[in-house]
Amino acid sequence: TAVGATAVDGAGAPLTPVLTRRWAAPESWTLASYRELGGYRALPKALGVEPARVTELVKASGLRGRGGAGFPTGMKWSFLPPFDPAAPTPRYLVINADEGEPGTCKDIPMMMADPHSLIEGAIITSYAINAPFCAIYVRGEALHCLRRLAGAVREATAAGYLGRDILGSGYDLEIVVHAGAGAYICGEETALLDSLEGRRGQPRLKPPFPAVAGLYASPTVVNNVETICSVPPIVLHGADWYRSMGTEKSPGSKIYSLSGHVTRPGQYEAPMGTTLRQLLDSAGGMRDGIPLKFFTPGGSSTPIFTAEHLDVPLSFDDVAAAGSMLGTTALMCFNETVSVPWAVWKWLEFYKHESCGKCTPCREGTGWLVQILHRIVTGDGTAEDLDTLTSAAANIAGRSFCALGDAAATPVLSSFKWFRQEYEDLVTGVTPPLVGDRALGAG
Ligand code: NAI
Ligand code: SF4
Repeated sequence: TAVGATAVDGAGAPLTPVLTRRWAAPESWTLASYRELGGYRALPKALGVEPARVTELVKASGLRGRGGAGFPTGMKWSFLPPFDPAAPTPRYLVINADEGEPGTCKDIPMMMADPHSLIEGAIITSYAINAPFCAIYVRGEALHCLRRLAGAVREATAAGYLGRDILGSGYDLEIVVHAGAGAYICGEETALLDSLEGRRGQPRLKPPFPAVAGLYASPTVVNNVETICSVPPIVLHGADWYRSMGTEKSPGSKIYSLSGHVTRPGQYEAPMGTTLRQLLDSAGGMRDGIPLKFFTPGGSSTPIFTAEHLDVPLSFDDVAAAGSMLGTTALMCFNETVSVPWAVWKWLEFYKHESCGKCTPCREGTGWLVQILHRIVTGDGTAEDLDTLTSAAANIAGRSFCALGDAAATPVLSSFKWFRQEYEDLVTGVTPPLVGDRALGAG
């Protein structure tokens, strides 16, 4: 599935193959290939300075978390309590490789194509926060990824990049690759930590944030795969170089995942602030020339955009100012043939299935939303259903224990903002039922 920026010669987006530059190389996942293409050169540079200097550099680069929330990475690292070498207490790095947001497919190709870049980033980050142990939590369904990472950890250990006294620096680090069991909620950082500790993965109350009480109640940094892979190039080329890409408040290079009715779907790496119109130009446009109707800027948890938003710069702040969230930059593109209520029903089926059941608004509410949406798409909905649907969604949002509840309400609420008429046409019979016995083409 890996379509690296190097494989794309589009005219539209100003492609910046920083993270994806090795993806198309022969056997790119091996240590030999990684080293040949400049790998493990940032590590000695980082180990040659005080850990705090590495954190300062990452702060200066302006790198923001690539897992969806865009929290400043260097700031997150500096939230850990001060480290006392005379009395070291446990502290950990946990890498969230549980990529599960619908439409998101950047971390798994990254780990498959270039696992050593994650490992080099993990060593540098662990060093910066003085952690002797790092866990990479891989999504349960991605066992191929687990095997590839485990192989890369073995290679890195044999070469002296991991284990005791790394490159003669006196710093020791162990990395463990751990598979989840395939639950979306385990991508939520505190549910992930519970799962890693061997318990059922359910979110914990925040605060305390993991930086204060994380894995085994010890200070823990949880970072996404793409965030950690951005660290070695920053160490190698500096903060100013990183800031030369992207926007002032969202610097750097970003992997955008294009899927749906796109001529050449895949991963396109470009500066933060690139627009969907530019990315679509690089991807050969909408498939069969059928125009775009709506898209998600960052996965199904982010409010949908319409063709009016094709020129919104895809950076954290610009997308927020336009009324959505950058999220994971999973650009699911839907053409004019797609019914919005149908797509929303399908997304809600996902959220209902993945709700962990801990809190009532999400556990019960996602089920109600699915039932009502099902009535609407089968032609059994009423005008009252539309009010119940929006009222239930509005009552889930902001009243749930974790972000999954808000995410489930988002497709309903944002689709009503732009496409309410489509729901009304279904309940008034202007549009025939989309599924079920009375749907066009049924039987
Ligand atoms: P959040 O905004 O609560 O936290 C972001 C990060 O900053 C966390 O690591 C948190 O611990 C840290 N943080 C925030 N305030 C802090 C403070 N005062 N002190 C210390 N640390 C602090 O967002 P959350 O719930 O972690 O993530 C939500 C995002 O996840 C959504 O925007 C969504 O796009 C994305 N998401 C990504 C998925 C994926 O597959 N990558 C799946 C589902 C959602
Ligand atoms: Fe679980 Fe949903 Fe509540 Fe989150 S919002 S704790 S996923 S039931």
